[in-house]
Amino acid sequence: MLIRPACQSPHLPEIAGWLHAQWWGDSGYSRAATEGWLRAATGPAAPCTLIAERDGVPLGTATLDVDDLPSRPDLTPWLASVLVAPAHRRQGVATTLVAEVRRRAAALGHARLWLFTEDRQAFYAARGWVPEGPETWRGRPVALMSCALAVPPAAVPAPPPVPAR
Ligand SMILES: CC(C)(COP(=O)(O)OP(=O)(O)OC[C@H]1O[C@@H](n2cnc3c(N)ncnc32)[C@H](O)[C@@H]1OP(=O)(O)O)[C@@H](O)C(=O)NCCC(=O)NCCS
Repeated sequence: MLIRPACQSPHLPEIAGWLHAQWWGDSGYSRAATEGWLRAATGPAAPCTLIAERDGVPLGTATLDVDDLPSRPDLTPWLASVLVAPAHRRQGVATTLVAEVRRRAAALGHARLWLFTEDRQAFYAARGWVPEGPETWRGRPVALMSCALAVPPAAVPAPPPVPAR
């Protein structure tokens, strides 16, 4: 499985269509605006949309985003827009995408990653995410969740020098 930023993938227009149909259209984005957003989400810092593909076939997508839940502008960054094509589900594609977003967020030095979900709490809990309480999104109840990120060695500050005696 190859995972790369959407802006580097020939499948970006197709993935934009998936996201537009699933969520973004309801958020007021046109299909063209969705595609433009993905093209601008170049990473490595958020926002960065990733596409998973195998043998030239797009399988799924996930995004490392700056913000996602309007009621919690205090939290960042977010795992957002996790979507796998129905024909490729239950093969570990989302698990791999989520792990890659976590790895990238950790590499950027973030200590914690956030998400909200309407009905996939069990999926994320099984992968180490913890519930952070109820929230509301578009008038519907959702669960806020987070996961602690392992700080990569390069991001750990060097210890202070030992004073000379
Ligand atoms: C939710 C969603 C992203 C999951 O994608 P996925 O690629 O099927 O997820 P995975 O394959 O990694 O894991 C799904 C299940 O398949 C299982 N699985 C993974 N590989 C498997 C395999 N080779 N054989 C059988 N089962 C497998 C996983 O253990 C997991 O089981 P669990 O839910 O009991 O933990 C997908 O169903 C989807 O796009 N749904 C619509 C959009 C959505 O709800 N997105 C999430 C918003 S928070």
